[in-house]
Amino acid sequence: MSDKATLQYAGNSYEFPVTKGSENELAIDIKTLRSASGMVTIDPGYKNTGSCESAITFLDGEKGILRYRGYSIEDLAEKADFLEVAYLLIFGELPNKEQLEKFHHDIKEEADVDEEMKKILEAFPKAAHPMGVLSSMTSALVAFNPVSVDVSSEQAMYHSIVRILAKFPVLVAWTQRKKKGLPLNYGDDTLGYVENFHKMMFKRPNKEYVKDQIAIDAIDKLLILHADHEQNCSTSTVRIVGSSHAGLFASLSAGISALWGPLHGGANQAVLEMLQAIEADGGDTKKYMAKAKDKNDPFRLMGFGHRVYKNFDPRARIIKKAADEVLGNLGIEDPILDIAKGLEKEALEDEYFVQRKLYPNVDFYSGIIYRALGIPTEMFTVMFALGRLPGWIAQWREMRLRGEPIGRPRQIYIGENHRPFVEVSKR
Ligand code: SDX
Repeated sequence: MSDKATLQYAGNSYEFPVTKGSENELAIDIKTLRSASGMVTIDPGYKNTGSCESAITFLDGEKGILRYRGYSIEDLAEKADFLEVAYLLIFGELPNKEQLEKFHHDIKEEADVDEEMKKILEAFPKAAHPMGVLSSMTSALVAFNPVSVDVSSEQAMYHSIVRILAKFPVLVAWTQRKKKGLPLNYGDDTLGYVENFHKMMFKRPNKEYVKDQIAIDAIDKLLILHADHEQNCSTSTVRIVGSSHAGLFASLSAGISALWGPLHGGANQAVLEMLQAIEADGGDTKKYMAKAKDKNDPFRLMGFGHRVYKNFDPRARIIKKAADEVLGNLGIEDPILDIAKGLEKEALEDEYFVQRKLYPNVDFYSGIIYRALGIPTEMFTVMFALGRLPGWIAQWREMRLRGEPIGRPRQIYIGENHRPFVEVSKR
């Protein structure tokens, strides 16, 4: 098969190289399209457009496959912990014992957050959405860590990476505790990465911290499942902001804002609000299914559908199983889980959803577990951001190390043609 593609237009013929990835994906390399033909392509939402070559995450939407650096999401969720997966995504290999210990040590050495940052947090109203707080606090971190902006060397980049991996969980915990009116605390660096996060989130000021292994294991697994997902909306945002050589923290702050949207990471909060509305409606799933199919109704079945997966999202399968386990282990009977399962069954048998290959995605069941763990609904997308942090970092690092050019798409102009200026007295 030729490794070239030919475009014919207006009597001209243009040839472009075809590139093949390690999983046999094919792409037409159009780097010379405009200089050769004067034309550009147009592809709203980039449904057919690859932005980069990447060695980090592979997913096959038709087969429901997801792998981080070649390891299946099923294996990693079952056998690894979140810090191992973060190391794998960022540096490309699973760490050995010494590497993992050094990585964790270097992170713990950076776990202090300047006390002045608390003044910024205090300035937010309690009603502020945690994603807006987190995006602002992440951007504010730059001011307290100016050395983290310049990552011209791999060593400087490593220090910037361990700094944000150390400080981000603190900011997430402080964001939740502010909403709950609890004192802001630091964790305990004798604990594991996720256990320390759990303590920072939930330790009550007047009580001893009780280690809740069920909750810690559930959070660890959820963070792994959210850790990366190739060129999704927020990751593409982190990459394009970073392509201007803005620092890592500023790029991450932009990614947090992109993730906030209800069509993206904000869906996990929207799913729970939808399920609660159905419960309040007496469990009338049919009414919401009808709304989701009504073209005149902007309502969509949140937690369903995906730009790439046209099969089950493998993460949804794992999270659905984990929801049963966690609620069972915690002895919680949550009617919302039963409503979710009923809605899933109905949608998977409905022609509209079947025809459009709309399956449950990562956000459909995750909120049920977060709720069982006592995490407020508005914090669900913040938990998604904590999970996605190593993926964003890995993608940003790959983009910088590969020396990718600044992202600057073209357009097709459809506005007014040239016209003479008219004085205001004559308009
Ligand atoms: C995440 O990209 C990633 O990898 C994202 C993510 C990650 O890990 O980073 O996986 C995380 O963002 C998961 C998605 C969470 N979002 C939701 O659950 C929100 C509900 N889903 C939809 O908004 C939608 O499915 C999207 C945004 C996820 C995908 O939208 P697309 O790919 O642009 O698809 P589309 O809007 O072109 O829809 C195709 C058809 C349309 O109908 P027709 O015009 O063909 O008649 O399917 C319909 C849509 O109306 N449709 C839905 C629907 N999703 C798509 N109809 C009802 N309910 C839905 N959820």
